[in-house]
Amino acid sequence: MSERTFVMIKPDAFSRRLIGRIMTRYESKGLKLVGMKLQVMSRQLAEQHYAEHRDQPYYGDLVNFITSGPSVAMVWEGPNAVEIARAINGATNSVEAKPGTIRGDWGLTLPRNVVHASDSLDTAKREIDLFFDEANLLSYAMPDEGWLCVKM
Ligand code: CDP
Ligand code: MG
Repeated sequence: MSERTFVMIKPDAFSRRLIGRIMTRYESKGLKLVGMKLQVMSRQLAEQHYAEHRDQPYYGDLVNFITSGPSVAMVWEGPNAVEIARAINGATNSVEAKPGTIRGDWGLTLPRNVVHASDSLDTAKREIDLFFDEANLLSYAMPDEGWLCVKM
């Protein structure tokens, strides 16, 4: 079943000029980019996005960090996209993130862990709605899609 998930490249990755290399990870896995936006998040948007972390001791640092520079909000689509994007990102804490994952390769300390991805289908729906109008998301087939499904 095809899913859509919300992914964000955080300001630490932007300032380290890692955007292209990070996008390649999702793209070369086979996920399809259906929406993308470059912006400096407002505090209001950051507080809505991270509302569930409101009572955590790191919340203030997290909101300051995420609004400190440009971030890239994206929607990626494909089979099991939610779980796949989380696996590509690696563990939240870069100490635990395996080499070969984005956070394992480029993360060092929290909250600067390079990327975000939705943790469930419900969260993905909520986060996609928060960042994008449905009208700005694309629906399309790649030229090579479907050839394996041709009925013999
Ligand atoms: O991003 P992810 O879903 O993997 O982790 P989270 O537990 O939902 O936390 C959201 C974000 O808060 C993390 O990606 C970190 O940037 C930050 N965080 C932190 O600064 N310190 C922690 N102890 C946990 C999370
Ligand atoms: Mg999370």
